[in-house]
Amino acid sequence: MSDVLLHSAEEAHAFGAALARVANPGDAIALSGPLGAGKTSIARGLLAALGLMEEAPSPSFAIVQPYAPPETRFPVLHVDLYRLEHADEADELGLDEARLDALLVVEWPERLPDSAWEDALWLTLTPEADGTRRLTAKVPPSWKARWPLT
Ligand SMILES: Nc1ncnc2c1ncn2[C@@H]1O[C@H](COP(=O)(O)OP(=O)(O)OP(=O)(O)O)[C@@H](O)[C@H]1O
Ligand SMILES: [Mg+2]
Repeated sequence: MSDVLLHSAEEAHAFGAALARVANPGDAIALSGPLGAGKTSIARGLLAALGLMEEAPSPSFAIVQPYAPPETRFPVLHVDLYRLEHADEADELGLDEARLDALLVVEWPERLPDSAWEDALWLTLTPEADGTRRLTAKVPPSWKARWPLT
């Protein structure tokens, strides 16, 4: 699949907004990539497009930052698993249950086994030498009709 080049934080934000136009409750979007790759920037653009007025905080400490109407158009869980030490701690986060009616947007998804993300749109950000971030997608069947974004 064609990669997307994000040349600035503004472009990352716009990409997040484009994602918001096709994402629905029940979907999972995994944002993978090294520290500072631009994962939160995409999540912020997505949340802003869903109506969030203030800038979304990075959920690094809270691990799960939930949003619900009226602040966003539908429920969203912005999750950052960086600080998760063991995959079994994730059970306590209740993500499976929450996902029934929320969009999951997850940074550091590799903290959980691959089996947790089989139906997730998996986006990998790779910083290039000039600072551009290359975004590569792994697209599951449920996202095939929605990818690439227009
Ligand atoms: N596509 C981009 N091009 C240039 N700079 C970017 C891009 N995306 C994000 N940035 C900048 O990179 C920095 C880190 O971004 P961000 O916090 O979104 O990364 P992150 O992947 O969420 O980091 P962490 O691993 O700590 O959660 C910020 O200063 C942001 O403005
Ligand atoms: Mg982040």
